[in-house]
Amino acid sequence: MILLAPSIMAGNHLNFQHELAQILEYADVVHLDIMDGHFVPNIGLGIKTCEQICASSTIPCYAHLMVNNPTDYLERFRNMGADTFVWHIEVQIDHKRKIGEVKESGMKAGLAISPDTDIGKLEGISQLLDVITVMGVIPGRSGQIFIPETIDRVSCVRSLPGNFKLEVDGGVSLDNAEQLVKAGADILVSGSSFMKNKEKRLFADTIHNLRR
Ligand code: DX5
Ligand code: ZN
Repeated sequence: MILLAPSIMAGNHLNFQHELAQILEYADVVHLDIMDGHFVPNIGLGIKTCEQICASSTIPCYAHLMVNNPTDYLERFRNMGADTFVWHIEVQIDHKRKIGEVKESGMKAGLAISPDTDIGKLEGISQLLDVITVMGVIPGRSGQIFIPETIDRVSCVRSLPGNFKLEVDGGVSLDNAEQLVKAGADILVSGSSFMKNKEKRLFADTIHNLRR
């Protein structure tokens, strides 16, 4: 089944309890966006907010770290019970070593790749990963327009060796979901198109019924 992973950051920050309840009712994964104001200019969810969301969630929480030093956050996400820890391949760290550390901590390991980054950077690493996240927008905020070249990038990533789940994040909507799944996506992150949608049941059913 194709998994729907709403980005709660795109919801109402004055009412995360209600937003989480909606996600738990219709979706499969809670997507947590964490930013440090350096890797991207913006600030995403705070650690305490993530802790409270994880503690109340009955479905897996995936942490998407748009930060320069993912190591700084590993322990805290492990302790709060995050299922999957995703950081960016553009960050200058030893990715193979970090994958080992994340897996040893009991979380699944994922790498996200930004729209301008060469897919070739994932070669030699893809087979070690549980998740690869292909960004459909420049990371940093919700509500941006989907970059159409993402579809071809998803096909390219799908052809890499490994048993990873392929996630697409940024600009995903019902206008591109079918193409993304046909190109090889397993998990669709949806910020504004789900969180601001009044027909959440219809949206979720449509995603869940997509077939590769
Ligand atoms: C972008 C974030 C996304 C974002 C998605 O930097 O990583 O998770 O919230 O929001 P939409 O679906 O509105 O692009
Ligand atoms: Zn994200």
